[in-house]
Amino acid sequence: MPQATSRPAAYAARLHGVSKAFVPRRPVLDGVDLAVRAGEIHALLGENGAGKSTLMKILVGLLRPDAGSISLADAPVDLDRFTPAEAVRRGIGMVHQVSALVPAMTVVENLAFGDARAGLWFHPRRARRAAERLAARFQLEVSLDRRVEDLAMGERQRAEILRALGRGARLLILDEPTSVLTPREAEALFASLRGLRDAGRAVIFISHKLSEVEAVADRVTILRQGKATASLSAREADARELGRLMLGRDVPPLERPARTPSVAAPALEIRGLCAPGLSEASRLREIDLRLDPGEILGIVGIDGNGQRELEEVLAGVRRPTRGDVCVGGRRIAPRPRALRAAGLAHLSGDRDGAGLISAFTLAENWILKGSHDDRRFFRRGWLDRAAARRAARAAAERFGIVPADPDAPIASLSGGNAQKLAVARELDGDPSVLVAVNPTRGLDVGSARFVHDELLARRRSGGAVLLISTDLDEVLALSDRITALVRGALAAVPPGSDRAAIGAILLGEAAA
Ligand SMILES: Nc1ncnc2c1ncn2[C@@H]1O[C@H](COP(=O)(O)OP(=O)(O)OP(=O)(O)O)[C@@H](O)[C@H]1O
Ligand SMILES: [Mg+2]
Repeated sequence: MPQATSRPAAYAARLHGVSKAFVPRRPVLDGVDLAVRAGEIHALLGENGAGKSTLMKILVGLLRPDAGSISLADAPVDLDRFTPAEAVRRGIGMVHQVSALVPAMTVVENLAFGDARAGLWFHPRRARRAAERLAARFQLEVSLDRRVEDLAMGERQRAEILRALGRGARLLILDEPTSVLTPREAEALFASLRGLRDAGRAVIFISHKLSEVEAVADRVTILRQGKATASLSAREADARELGRLMLGRDVPPLERPARTPSVAAPALEIRGLCAPGLSEASRLREIDLRLDPGEILGIVGIDGNGQRELEEVLAGVRRPTRGDVCVGGRRIAPRPRALRAAGLAHLSGDRDGAGLISAFTLAENWILKGSHDDRRFFRRGWLDRAAARRAARAAAERFGIVPADPDAPIASLSGGNAQKLAVARELDGDPSVLVAVNPTRGLDVGSARFVHDELLARRRSGGAVLLISTDLDEVLALSDRITALVRGALAAVPPGSDRAAIGAILLGEAAA
């Protein structure tokens, strides 16, 4: 064992035999060993619910393990006294899977908030300069003066990363930091992480995007059902092999059968749609689109270019200033109930804000978007709890949600399992149009494949899907047609365009 000398620590963190059960005799972690060297980027992989976030919450003092030991920078940790504040003091910074920023504060305020070095008083100018320096140093572009609640998801993630980097962490933990970053943003983040590593710091990186893991990680530890089943050098395995180690099976490539063009009325038609934006770049400008039954139309774009505004108009919560929305050939007032009644379902891109309520149970979330005239769950205005629980349980079993317990609160589910519930709920009513925003965010490769198969099944049975996604690979794999959303306007994507060509269109670099 390395011991206290003046040499730099060999290990940023070592965990030994860590176990944790939330319910007696149902361990979520079962004797896990994890060794993270100083100067390495260590990926932690595992399917949804494998225990990754739980293990990291233990490492940052948010949860106490039932058994096991931890050392940081080669010095043991007294787990009875280990708190989040102590973890920060010992150089750990973490970006959580669920946002920890204060929505009503600006980015600058969030960066200064709780930072011991900022002093007791808030100095707006000083705080802003510090934030600017930080953003420039790590090349992460964030609108510093806007409130977090007004930011696109990708920008929120960048703000969150900046905050952790700003605390000067020696061990930085990133729990799915890239789930809504574009490839270019992710590449910029990886460059920062490599810089940290080369300066002798350590990074624990959790991601379901195995190609990213391949690109950035030095070592990989695989967690399967609460046990660390493998630890290997990242050079030893490619993305496919990593998927196999995680799931214990191969995920074959997706097949999208050819489709016969529909002669029916368009499932969704939008004409001349204009709507105010959260920023000037995201104001919707004259959106025209047509989506046929049995078709998947992919909308690619960098987060913050109007995706959220378009999503909100189609959810009925952002009032357009001009334009028409027609569902199944009929003009619909863009209000939540009218849109739903017309057969349009909406899978929110902001799962924690608008999709699911984390303190509610699976069953309660299942009926959340229904209305009192939904005969399945309401009788003369009274809620039929048993019916809601049965429906939630059946959906959880079909989608492989763990635990398939209708009475469990969403907060006790892993991120990916919560996402699967949101997808199951929106597909449930056989919508004629599904607006799906980043539908596989946070899903492991097996679950993502399941959701993709479900979207293709919708298409096969004549349903239409408007796929708004920042994941280019997803859009390329699923869509019959692709269009790009750039500064609030649609830009054509020629059929057969590849990643590079689409990337250029998104940055406005395409030849006219
Ligand atoms: N507070 C809690 N109470 C009960 N069970 C919990 C709680 N927190 C987590 N769990 C359970 O522990 C297991 C592991 O969850 P965890 O969030 O660590 O998974 P994960 O590997 O991070 O998954 P994902 O990739 O979906 O984020 C899951 O089955 C989850 O339901
Ligand atoms: Mg997690």
